[in-house]
Amino acid sequence: MSQPLFQLDGRTAVVTGATGKLGPIWAEALLDAGATVAALDLPGAAPSPAFTALASRAGDRLRRFDCDVTQRASIEAAVEALVRQFGEPAILVNNAGVDQPPDSGGNRSRIDDLPIEQFRRMVEVNLLGTFQVTQIAGQRMVDASRGSIINIGSLYASVSPDQRFYDHLAGDLPFLKSPAYGASKAAVVNLAKYFATLWGPSGVRVNTLSPGGVLAGQDESFKTKYSARVPLGRMAQAADLKGPLVFLASDASTYVTGHELRVDGGFTAW
Ligand SMILES: NC(=O)c1ccc[n+]([C@@H]2O[C@H](COP(=O)([O-])OP(=O)(O)OC[C@H]3O[C@@H](n4cnc5c(N)ncnc54)[C@H](O)[C@@H]3O)[C@@H](O)[C@H]2O)c1
Repeated sequence: MSQPLFQLDGRTAVVTGATGKLGPIWAEALLDAGATVAALDLPGAAPSPAFTALASRAGDRLRRFDCDVTQRASIEAAVEALVRQFGEPAILVNNAGVDQPPDSGGNRSRIDDLPIEQFRRMVEVNLLGTFQVTQIAGQRMVDASRGSIINIGSLYASVSPDQRFYDHLAGDLPFLKSPAYGASKAAVVNLAKYFATLWGPSGVRVNTLSPGGVLAGQDESFKTKYSARVPLGRMAQAADLKGPLVFLASDASTYVTGHELRVDGGFTAW
């Protein structure tokens, strides 16, 4: 085979929310497959140690661009800047997102008085942000008659969070994982199907990659309870996510569109 199926040489990839926990995993997978990577994140967002380490290894094939995915003008400016430096995007990873990490115990809400602003913000970033970046970067792929767009979903796009994972946390009220997160991620899966059908005839594929919980310093009780619910018996690690992303980004998946690829160790099979 002259052109290996998983090779991304010469392709420009865009990753939103790139400087957090999972962003560097996607960026590294794309770089290792041969792509150049435009790393978009909020102006002033402090990069994770993983992103800083990757940036120092990657050299000119990884560059950071300021972009707030909730602001159309900010996305347009970032896309114009990255096209000038790297050329037209062939891959877009809609990764920017906000979740609700377990808190320190104060300022919690019961479901009946959950502040609507928290709900609105998750929808604003996770759903509307994904839509707007797809509009702007995706249209350029349509104009070029090729591209692969990957929305980052979540296992909570398919199932409700198990609140018992958090019942060991002390606090003024029980920690309640927000209904907004899963709702916004379910919407992102549907959005991928919408664009897959709209842009299929233009040669642009659109899929969702839905990770399960990724190991990142969670407390031991959480890890034990969570892992007991996973058929493969553990949380995800960086290496578990890279292959599925490169599969969706590359010519290994030329007949795959509108699909949700769950990378959750079987969590949603139970
Ligand atoms: N970590 C997990 O276990 C896990 C599991 C399933 C899905 N996910 C999803 O993966 C994606 C990345 O998660 P993460 O764990 O790396 O989170 P993270 O908080 O470490 O990173 C998210 C990044 O998005 C950026 N961001 C937030 N709002 C933005 C905006 N308006 N414009 C541009 N960038 C913005 C943040 O600055 C941050 O760098 C999210 O969509 C998340 O929902 C994560």
